[in-house]
Amino acid sequence: MRIKAPATSANLGAGFDVFGLALKEPYDLVEVTRIPEKNVRIKLVEGYEIPLEPEENTGGYVALRMIEDFDLPEGIELRIWKRIKPKSGLGSSAATAAAAAYALNKLFNLGLSREKLVEYAALGELISAGSPHPDNVASAIYGGFTMILSRNPLKIYAVDPPADLGVVIVLPVVEKASTKKAREILPKMIELERYVYNVGMAASLVAGMSLGNIEMIKEGMNDLVVEPIRAKAGIISEYEEVKELGRRLNAGIAVSGAGPAIIGVIEKERRKVLAKELERLYTSKGYRCRVYITEPGPGVSELEE
Ligand code: HSE
Repeated sequence: MRIKAPATSANLGAGFDVFGLALKEPYDLVEVTRIPEKNVRIKLVEGYEIPLEPEENTGGYVALRMIEDFDLPEGIELRIWKRIKPKSGLGSSAATAAAAAYALNKLFNLGLSREKLVEYAALGELISAGSPHPDNVASAIYGGFTMILSRNPLKIYAVDPPADLGVVIVLPVVEKASTKKAREILPKMIELERYVYNVGMAASLVAGMSLGNIEMIKEGMNDLVVEPIRAKAGIISEYEEVKELGRRLNAGIAVSGAGPAIIGVIEKERRKVLAKELERLYTSKGYRCRVYITEPGPGVSELEE
């Protein structure tokens, strides 16, 4: 079975651990085959380096747990074309985890619901980030824009983003602090004022996604709780400048997941301008960077051919 597993962008500003957006590009390819041993084999065919020990690989870990829980008679081999850079803030670990959960469900006819698949795939985040936060895996499984309403029991809502919503991702080449570290520095308590601001932002973004109003989405991509703390800790490069650029170009700008990638949303026909300006900003500061001009996309799916 050949699977396409999308990159995802979590948080989108105020939706820390709640919002996720599946992207059309980049994506990983994963070929999954049943093997007679009750085990998991992982092979990297091409692309970025990833752990190949099943217990250390997000997809391998998810597969091992599912083989055990469902007492499956066989195991699987995952052959991975890793195109989503690990530790980039683009849900690289979530993509492999989602592909593994999706494949096992299909290959062994488990009949699991999408929510159950998200629960399994989220286990992969435990080994990569130290917590089973399901925001990236939810959008990787469902596609489009997703919201985690509650984690226990897991409840997810998904909305199709507006058709003319364009997305630009800029990924500066920097040594990234681990997601685990980027989570450890966050406060346990926040001020009421910041909470009120963030609820307003999140409301605007959700309303914009549901009503097809891009202005409301852009306006809602702001956060006073998590992003400023990560920026101050040096985890997000050029944060203030990039936010200012968003205001100047009338684009929504947020940190993608725990960074270092930045996500910009703008009308599809204005994506190139935003991409150019973001690239110019980072290169003028001495960074090398990769830019993706993309859009919201579907969740993990089987390739037809
Ligand atoms: N919501 C998560 C975070 C996404 O910001 O830590 C990172 O995987």
